[in-house]
Amino acid sequence: MKVLVIGGGGREHALVWKLSQSPRVKEILAAPGNPGMSDLATCVDINAGDVSGLVALARQEQVDLTFVGPEEPLVKGGVTAFETEGLKIVGPGRRAAALEGSKSFAKGIMHKHGVPTAAYRSFSNPSDAADYIRRIGGRCVVKADGLAAGKGVVVAEDETAALQAVEDIMVKKRFGGAGKTVVVEELLEGEEASVLAFTDGETVLPLLPAQDHKQVWDGDKGPNTGGMGAYAPAPVCTPEIYHTVVEKILKPTIRGLKEEGCTYKGILYAGLMITSEGPKVLEFNVRFGDPEAQPLLTLLDTDLVEIGEAIIEERLHEVDLKWKQGAAACVVLASQGYPGSYEKGKPIEGLDDIPEGVTVFHAGTAVKDGRLVTAGGRVLGVTARGHDLASAIDLAYEAVGRINFEGMHYRKDIGQKGLRRSKI
Ligand code: AMP
Ligand code: GLY
Repeated sequence: MKVLVIGGGGREHALVWKLSQSPRVKEILAAPGNPGMSDLATCVDINAGDVSGLVALARQEQVDLTFVGPEEPLVKGGVTAFETEGLKIVGPGRRAAALEGSKSFAKGIMHKHGVPTAAYRSFSNPSDAADYIRRIGGRCVVKADGLAAGKGVVVAEDETAALQAVEDIMVKKRFGGAGKTVVVEELLEGEEASVLAFTDGETVLPLLPAQDHKQVWDGDKGPNTGGMGAYAPAPVCTPEIYHTVVEKILKPTIRGLKEEGCTYKGILYAGLMITSEGPKVLEFNVRFGDPEAQPLLTLLDTDLVEIGEAIIEERLHEVDLKWKQGAAACVVLASQGYPGSYEKGKPIEGLDDIPEGVTVFHAGTAVKDGRLVTAGGRVLGVTARGHDLASAIDLAYEAVGRINFEGMHYRKDIGQKGLRRSKI
């Protein structure tokens, strides 16, 4: 069959890599794709947000099955648009995708269906938000309601920072229309984890627990990024916590959405804080995480095409997820200045000398004058599988040591929290 992968980052390279291993797949298209996947897929220059262009491509190329990487086409109703044309696509429809597209919608669903999350209020008027912040004493998290490329969240330690966030989001409109409404929520303490699940709206098949590294510097210091690295399985999610996440978070959310008349099909990502009171939801995403997808797809043994078809045909109960032994870790190599502004076009060296067991997923790369160069903030995701977490981490960093581009920076402590826990 012919499959299409929408998107062009590291997560999408991992999707293409995984799909290329399916005996069912004869041809892969990626839109827009990236140079790293060009030996496995034909890259077509259509942006992930161009839903009508993507539908036209899928029709013209007679694509049998489409997987979506980023949230934008999902939140814009891409699944609904594909389905209207009789095209098969894995993901939630427009209304269910609001779980990521609107934080106040997500909070409302959680509240109504008893899913543990931070206490919150939403506001469409900045002075009401400010009054509330003063009343609760300042320390809180301020979130733009809509999509803000992962940047619309301010963890405010005091009143000044929280009020500034309201000013930036609602008055200065730093995220445009995404900041018309803000959610102000309780600041949760603990360690973060990501638990993703495949679902057909009824059956929930959770993936191995993973952990991202959001902050740019070692020791979780510095500003938040899209994610500087990830690993799985993450021992912070003990079997007991994992069970709670599945039973008290994932299943009630899927059931709740169904009751609301918007059946959720696809991949559901729960970003969690493991607090002293148990796991609580920080956010839902309606897609694979990036970089969580890189280690998770490295470890997934089951054919992704079989899973995708079972989701669409609502027979996920027939599927049994199988995992490769061991653990996987992904170290993101970023451009100097990221997550702030950065230069592009730096030649990338060392990719022809990568040890066995490592896959280098491309994110922000381009080919210029026949050379591979940097073209984004997150450039590469060096992903290794090992018989345990320690060996996966060692192997990933061994490969990192062979790669270079001007200004390259990366975290040296990917997976260390997991290692500390596995030694307890
Ligand atoms: P979100 O996009 O909602 O996941 O937020 C991005 C990041 O902000 C999360 O990964 C957390 O590190 C942090 N964050 C979000 N909400 C909270 C909260 N209620 N308490 C503490 N940290 C939070
Ligand atoms: N790794 C976080 C995300 O994909 O949103």
